Amino acid sequence: MNKQNNSKKLPQSYWLASTPTTNYPTLNEDIDVDVVIIGGGLAGISCAYLLQKENLNIAVLESDHICQGATAHTTAKITSQHGLIYDKIKTQAGKEFAKQYAHANESAIHKIKEIIEDNQIDCDYISQPAFVYTQREKYIQQIENEVKTASSLGIKASYVEEIPFNMSIKAAIRFDNQAQFHPRKYVLSLASIIHDNNVRIFENSRAVDIEKDNNYVITTEKGNKVRAKKVIITSQYPFYNKHGMYFARVFPKRSYIVGIKAKEKYPGGMYVNEEDPTRSLRSQNTEDGELILVVGANHTTGQSDNTDESYQELISFANSIFTIEDIPYKWSTQDYITLDGVPYIGNYTSNTPDMYVATGFQKWGMTNSMVSAMILRDLIVKGESKWQNVYNPSRKNIISSAKNFVVENLNVAEHLLKGKLSSLPKNIDIEPGEGKIIKIDGERIGAYRDEEGMLHLVNTTCPHMGCELNWNSAEKSWDCPCHGSRFTYEGEIIEGPSIKPLKFSNDVNTIEKLFKDDY
Ligand code: FES
Repeated sequence: MNKQNNSKKLPQSYWLASTPTTNYPTLNEDIDVDVVIIGGGLAGISCAYLLQKENLNIAVLESDHICQGATAHTTAKITSQHGLIYDKIKTQAGKEFAKQYAHANESAIHKIKEIIEDNQIDCDYISQPAFVYTQREKYIQQIENEVKTASSLGIKASYVEEIPFNMSIKAAIRFDNQAQFHPRKYVLSLASIIHDNNVRIFENSRAVDIEKDNNYVITTEKGNKVRAKKVIITSQYPFYNKHGMYFARVFPKRSYIVGIKAKEKYPGGMYVNEEDPTRSLRSQNTEDGELILVVGANHTTGQSDNTDESYQELISFANSIFTIEDIPYKWSTQDYITLDGVPYIGNYTSNTPDMYVATGFQKWGMTNSMVSAMILRDLIVKGESKWQNVYNPSRKNIISSAKNFVVENLNVAEHLLKGKLSSLPKNIDIEPGEGKIIKIDGERIGAYRDEEGMLHLVNTTCPHMGCELNWNSAEKSWDCPCHGSRFTYEGEIIEGPSIKPLKFSNDVNTIEKLFKDDY
């Protein structure tokens, strides 16, 4: 399998472009630790940071390089304002759960600030207000309710009727004392600190199996073993399918970001609307001046007919409120959504006492990562956390979103079948730069022709659980509509849960090798 550098083939985020690549070693021996953390993003590194203060022997296993996934593609808003969530949780599960969620996220904002100050981390941290606004009459009441509920939970929230852009709105909710930062500057500094404190960080060390004897035994792609008393999975989508049924409880959404230079100065603050299509804004000071991040155009992964249009939508929106002078960056990101809108943080299942998970951060990964670290540190060290009930992955009482559950699972089931039954074109009429599904000798094949004219063929059956992949024209990737695995046009994994690449060939005359082994 050709190994390719994804960063050369995917649009690069400003966060990646403005920071160095890391170079931690690959695990090439068997080791014993107290805690192994699978996933080296913000959640994993934050867990390691808090746990190393408890004198535990810790290893972090990262399948690629640390902080290259969701954390490197986020908008990096450090906020307890997660859409209009508080009134929803209060209605679904009661005021006590809403209070836990608010307290956890407000504490996360303070904890991140404290870590930055304690360690003097230079990561462009700025305090900012955050706003959710609406341009539709029907959301005014919801915003009023949210102001009332959030205020009753101790959050500094207020109702406003204007935001400082050239757009008319119906209402907005403002949270004060929120913040923004450069997520990679923060995580890379934190990684360096924990590494100096004897946390072992391994890159290019994908975990592919977990077994339990006296301890947990994690096997990596290269066959090395990590024996650990405790396992934490923070790999965005939990790849481990033997327990927990996470494949039926979290689903992927993609969204897009354009980084623009505008004639106008950005007025400050962080903004997101309540309605569809999502539009979100923040700015970032860079060496080349102010960059405005315009975010949105969300869709379920692998289920958009024309992903290129997503960037165009955002550029049109940006044009409506700014005079665009340049668009130096565009990239996309993937988030995982839970059934009830609250992340799963805690024991992997009620029957796996020493295995933990943190996933389904919706689009609010900065505070929820720190919440994960605080909850999992407390569960491991003290056996309990004051916020464990609202985030409990096995919770029953908060799952009132039966509608979502049915819709999303029907959606997955439909995609398991739909791809197999699609009728496909019979020739290989593909222009340079184009990708599509073709049918050769009765088999469904993903084909992409590069700018030099070379054809790249993959077997489009997802190695995770067998859904059929779709072409993502904006990212030039093969995306799975079921649980969000993504692959390059040469079949390499961009993101899991799949732990296997796609079968790949450059030769139309040897396509039978794409179908040789069953997954
Ligand atoms: Fe689960 Fe593709 S990611 S089937």
